[in-house]
Amino acid sequence: MLSFILLSLSSYVAGAAIERRDAVPAGYVAPPYYPSPHGGWVSDWSESFRKASLLVSRMTLAEKTNLTAGSGIFMGRCVGNTGSAERVGIPQLCLQDGPLGVRNTDHNTAFPAGITVGATFDKDLMRRRGVAIGEEFRGKGVNIHLGPSVGALGRKPRGGRNWEGFGSDPVLQAFGGALSVEGIQSVGVIATIKHLIANEQEMYRMYSAVKPGISSNLDDRTLHELYLWPFAEGVRSGVGSVMIAYNAVNGSACSQNSYLINGILKDELGFQGFVMSDWLAQISGVASALAGLDMSMPGDIHTVPVVLGSSYWMYEYSRAILNGSIPVDRLDDSVTRILAAYFQMGQDQNYPRPNFDTNTQNAEGPLYPGALISPSGVVNEFVNVQANHAEVAREVARDAITLLKNTGNVLPLPRNSTLKIFGTDAEKNPDGINSCADQGCNKGTLGMGWGSGSARYPYMDSPIDGFKARGASYQFFNTDSFPSNSNPSPNDTAVVFVTADSGENYITVENNPGDRTSSNLNLWHNGDRLIQDVAAKYTNIIVVVHTVGPVLLDGWHDLPSVKAILFAHLPGQEAGASLMEVLYGDVSPSGHLPYTVPKSEDDYSDSVSLVGYQIGQPQDTFSEGLYIDYRHFHKANIKPRYAFGHGLSYTNFSFSNAVLTGVTPLRSTPPTRPAKGATPAYSTAIPPASEAYWPENFSRIWRYLYSWLEKADADNAAKAASSTTKYPYPAGYSNVQKPGPSAGGAQGGNPALFDVAYDVSVTVTNTGSRAGKAVAQLYVQFPTSSFDTPILQLRDFEKTSNLAPGASETLKLRLTRKDLSVWDVVSQNWIIPNLGGDYGVWIGDSSDNLRLRCGTAARTCVGNQPSLV
Ligand code: NOJ
Repeated sequence: MLSFILLSLSSYVAGAAIERRDAVPAGYVAPPYYPSPHGGWVSDWSESFRKASLLVSRMTLAEKTNLTAGSGIFMGRCVGNTGSAERVGIPQLCLQDGPLGVRNTDHNTAFPAGITVGATFDKDLMRRRGVAIGEEFRGKGVNIHLGPSVGALGRKPRGGRNWEGFGSDPVLQAFGGALSVEGIQSVGVIATIKHLIANEQEMYRMYSAVKPGISSNLDDRTLHELYLWPFAEGVRSGVGSVMIAYNAVNGSACSQNSYLINGILKDELGFQGFVMSDWLAQISGVASALAGLDMSMPGDIHTVPVVLGSSYWMYEYSRAILNGSIPVDRLDDSVTRILAAYFQMGQDQNYPRPNFDTNTQNAEGPLYPGALISPSGVVNEFVNVQANHAEVAREVARDAITLLKNTGNVLPLPRNSTLKIFGTDAEKNPDGINSCADQGCNKGTLGMGWGSGSARYPYMDSPIDGFKARGASYQFFNTDSFPSNSNPSPNDTAVVFVTADSGENYITVENNPGDRTSSNLNLWHNGDRLIQDVAAKYTNIIVVVHTVGPVLLDGWHDLPSVKAILFAHLPGQEAGASLMEVLYGDVSPSGHLPYTVPKSEDDYSDSVSLVGYQIGQPQDTFSEGLYIDYRHFHKANIKPRYAFGHGLSYTNFSFSNAVLTGVTPLRSTPPTRPAKGATPAYSTAIPPASEAYWPENFSRIWRYLYSWLEKADADNAAKAASSTTKYPYPAGYSNVQKPGPSAGGAQGGNPALFDVAYDVSVTVTNTGSRAGKAVAQLYVQFPTSSFDTPILQLRDFEKTSNLAPGASETLKLRLTRKDLSVWDVVSQNWIIPNLGGDYGVWIGDSSDNLRLRCGTAARTCVGNQPSLV
């Protein structure tokens, strides 16, 4: 065993070419796909590629390799800092977390988390929150925003980071991600969709010296129809960067999985930007470059020597070019992709430099805290980037609040209610709102999960702040155990605050190492018990849940005094006023569940449980295929506690006058893809070794990663280029560019996939007595064919404006060719499985409340239909 450890350690350290892969179950393959497709062939990007390739043609080898990796962990102000090419005007690029706001800084906004955004089912808010986030990253001088997260998709209800994304459905996730990308990039910040792909649990996610990361084994159809879908939409909206996940897919580490990066992402999806590794996810030098990785973050080697400052790339990349292992055009393509994204977002025009430091809150400090001896200077300039972003944050938090139950219309609360409030979640963390690094604790109001997806709160508007601001008559018991002194009176309304938390694997909170390993899907801090105890003494109870995802409610849900249940999700800094607006009925709740809430954890299929320790590489086989979340509940005919998409209002809505109009006539297969446009011409000549020599009299910082080599090293590498010993290229390797697969053709895939097949409109009328917003959800039911398809699949949604009683609005939805297709693994294309068949187009306000059915065969729509599920 020891020899095995030493062997694998030494092979990692040497950045050896090819690792033996652990066996994955039969049928799960990641076939080789080479070479890495050159970027630049999509017309939207041609001008940026023209500028970038011109610049690259003027750069030296060491300047180029310097842009492909970070300067080392904790070796700069941002969480990732590339090298620079100052001679040609390219500064170090700053990469910073995270999806809900600028991490580890000040004077920022802590926006509601992705899951909260998903619950709004509001496309306009998704985009506006993106713009506001983009403005904050730009204001802090961040070039590359490490968000949005569209994977984890939420396959595993206990998965630690589901809350960073938008919900357990590919289409909801896709709209959340793509609209965030549009918003963020509209102000010139490069967005990063992450984590490609199938990073569905935290435990065992990373490769280490002794153990490979978990392998997500999934079939080609499941990959395309579920997990890849949101990435395809992110690429379609022109995302500049994609982060590769830690885990393996079908046995091959994502960071060097040529099938995923070269094949799926760059060729089939036509991704034009650059691919970065997750932090320390890179496990090889040459192999990862050939597989299509463009940027290594934070630059260091993932195993033991991280402390010493060593890299698979930087100087090693320079060496691999000089000795001929990596073809020059591969490096040129990577650097051109990075710079094309930079030009595409206009970052060459007065883009601010970083003015904050992710490593400290102090004004001054070491410039390279990871170095033994570092120069010091001003690192935090405390630039206020908040503008009026609290407003959009509050709007998201408010419009996400999901009313699950409201017996006897206990809500909205009358203004003069006498309240007894229970639960520590109602008030700020007494130790300080940012007392736990990366929010790695669950104390006080839960506004976000923990890990790199967190941000510091500039303030926390807690529910108690909200009650105070309303002048409510209340008594607050800041405890999670029922107090003996609450003196229940029959006129009291009790409001109980409870939570469930999760986060990223490097922090363990209350025995949960990221995933909800030990809390299961239960409320934290004995929340069930608190509610039960309150229910024993009070007759009107409102339960408010701040949660990262599904929780079990069944211990108390049916108690007669539990009148109302609200999921306020993860509201960020705006927990208070947003909740008050809903509780007191200034607005009607309009959020809908972005996942299913089960009655019991046994309701899920076993395959979506967390995978524990296994000898060798942990294998996580996605044997449930397409059947996650509501798709599974429908198939297994299990009635959940609350269905995906469920959410009540204080008013009622009717859906009527649905009209389905054919737009683009369909054939079984999409029209032929357009050919790739021209890409920059790159020289294949190996540059002179002198381009990688250390500059004279350069004063080096210990541990800092540079791209230069000692003269002798560079010369030796250049000599090795003519040696007969060649790099052991992987099976299937070639360096001849390909025309690309038939499913490709533009960003996101064959553009014909996004042709609108049908327009669907529906009139929503507020039939109740209060104003409110409704969400129309459109699900498709495939006709019978040789392809097994989930009973219902969400394909589009729209939210109305705030409709006054009696008012109506006509919403427009659409179905694309892709929405009506399945991925055919044989022809490797999207096909319409039954062209003449009758697609059911179901519209309603929840996956289990779809009453309007349009059929594509007769093109008619009928109301009052019995629910399919
Ligand atoms: C690891 C996380 O998985 C990723 O989401 C994050 O952006 C990086 N660390 C940088 O903090």
